[in-house]
Amino acid sequence: MGYAQVRAVALVGMVGQMVVVESDVAAGLPSLVVTGLPDAALTQARDRVRAAVVNSGEEWPQRRLTVNLLPAHLPKHGSSFDLAVAASLLAAAGAIPADPLREAVLIGELGLDGTVRPVRGVLPAVVAAMRNGLRYAVVPAENAAEAALVPGIVVRATDTLARLIGFLRCDGPLLDPPSPGPDADVDGLDLADVLGQDRGRRAVELAAAGGHNLALFGPPGAGKTMLAQRLPTVLPPLSDEAALEVTAVHSLAGALPEESPLIRQPPFQAPHHTTSVAALVGGGSGVGRPGALSRAHHGVLFMDEAPEFSPAALEALRQPLEEGVVRISRSRAETVFPARVQLVLASNPCPCARPGGDQYCECSPLARRRYLSRLSGPLLDRIDLQVKLSPARPEAVLGDEAGESSEAVASRVAGARAAAAERWGATNAGVPSRTLRDARYRLPRVVSAPLAKDLDRGLISARGHDRVLRVAWTMCDLDGRAHPELADVCEALDLRRGTR
Ligand SMILES: Nc1ncnc2c1ncn2[C@@H]1O[C@H](COP(=O)(O)OP(=O)(O)OP(=O)(O)O)[C@@H](O)[C@H]1O
Ligand SMILES: [Mg+2]
Ligand SMILES: [Zn+2]
Repeated sequence: MGYAQVRAVALVGMVGQMVVVESDVAAGLPSLVVTGLPDAALTQARDRVRAAVVNSGEEWPQRRLTVNLLPAHLPKHGSSFDLAVAASLLAAAGAIPADPLREAVLIGELGLDGTVRPVRGVLPAVVAAMRNGLRYAVVPAENAAEAALVPGIVVRATDTLARLIGFLRCDGPLLDPPSPGPDADVDGLDLADVLGQDRGRRAVELAAAGGHNLALFGPPGAGKTMLAQRLPTVLPPLSDEAALEVTAVHSLAGALPEESPLIRQPPFQAPHHTTSVAALVGGGSGVGRPGALSRAHHGVLFMDEAPEFSPAALEALRQPLEEGVVRISRSRAETVFPARVQLVLASNPCPCARPGGDQYCECSPLARRRYLSRLSGPLLDRIDLQVKLSPARPEAVLGDEAGESSEAVASRVAGARAAAAERWGATNAGVPSRTLRDARYRLPRVVSAPLAKDLDRGLISARGHDRVLRVAWTMCDLDGRAHPELADVCEALDLRRGTR
C-alpha cells in the first residue's frame, strides 16, 4: 500500500554512519514493528512516535506498519531517529510527500506532545550527512547553531513535528539556524593575575610555546592551580579544522553552549581526582559519552592533586596518552574518541602539604617517595617540564605590581611555535629523538656539556636528556635565536628539579 525511505545518522564514537529508515504500510491488523537492531531506546521510539504523530493532529495509519533501519548490522542507539521514523511512516502512508526528503537527513527526538527535542552529537551527524552528499539537514531547533557550523550542507531546524509536516506540505517554513554569535568568550582569566612566581610563569610560557607537558610541584597556595588554569590563555586559538573537531566532541558530550557553539579556544578540562574512570576517559551505554580526556582534545587536561587520582584512573590514561585517541571496546563495536591533549599535573611534594614548603615537612623520606611514585610510569614519563615552585613571595603577592598579561605572552608563544614548525614541522615536544640527534640539530659539545655530565653521573636518564634538549629548543625559539645556547641548557636542567 505504501513505502518510503528517510535518512538518519547513527554515531559510532565520533563517526556518523548513514542509516536508511524505511517504512512499509500494508493491509492487516493495525500494528507497528520496528526492526534493524534497535536498542531499548529505539523500541520506546515506537510509543513516542505514535503519540507525537497523534498529538500533532495527524491521523495514525490503522494498518500493519513496519519500520526497518538499515544497515541492520550497525548498532543504533538513542533517540535521534524519532524524527526520521515519524516522517518515514507518514510518507509511506501517503500523508506527506516523500520526494522532498530524498536528499535530506532528519535528526531529532520526539516528545509525546510532538515537540522536537535536542540530541547529543548533532554536529558529527551532520558532518556525516554532508560527507555522504546529502544536501539538507533538518535538526532540532536547539541544535541548529552547532549544525550550521558544518559547511557544504543546508541546515534547517524544527521545534515540532507539526512544523516539519507543514513544511513538507508547502504549508509553512522550517526555522533558520541563528546567525552565529560572537565566539564563546574566554572566562576572564589572565596570567597577569599571577603575582611573582617567575619560575611558574616561565614554565607555563615554555609549556605553551613548545607544547610540552607540564608538572608543577609545590606547597599549598604556591599558585599551581592558578598557573595551570591560565595555560589556555596563552595558547594559540584553534585552527578551523581543530575547532570543528573539538566542537564535535563537545556536541557528543552534550556540553555546547546553544548560542555560539564553535569552540575556538583550546579547551581546558580539570577532572576532580575522585572522578570515575568512565568520566575520565569516556564510556557509558548507548551513544558513549566522551570523557574529560576527550573533551580536552586539542587543549589542556589538568590533573590537580595528581597523586590523589586512583591507580585505575592513572592506568586508564596510559594508552590514550600514548595513542592520542581513546578506544572503548563494547560488545558490537569499538568506539574511538580523539584525545590529543597537553597534560598539566599539579601536586604537593608530599602528603603532609605544609604551606611553608619543604622545611616544615613532617613526612618520612619514604612517604615522600611513595607519594610521587604514584605518578611515575604512565604520567611523569611523558612530561618535559617538571618544575618545583617555591611559595609565592609575600612581597610579590602583597605588592600591586601586576604580572605580564596573557596577551603579551601569547604573542611570544605564537612566534616560538611558528619557528619550531618552520624548523621541523612539529612542536618541540612532538619532535622525535631521532631528529634531535640529527647532525643538523645536534648541539655543539660546549653547549651540551652540563647535560652530558648529568647523564654520565646517572643524574638523568637518556629520556630525560632528550626532554631537556626539547625545552632548550623552546627557550631559543622564544628568544628568536637559531640555536640553543649553554644558558638554555642550564635553565632547562634547572627547571627539571621538580621531584628531586
Ligand atoms: N602568585 C600568586 N599571585 C597571586 N595570588 C596567588 C598567587 N599564589 C597564590 N595566590 C592566591 O592563593 C590562592 C591559592 O592558589 P592556588 O590554588 O593556585 O594554589 P595551589 O598551589 O594550587 O595550592 P593547593 O596545593 O592548596 O591546591 C589563589 O586563589 C590566589 O588567591
Ligand atoms: Mg591547587
Ligand atoms: Zn610532607
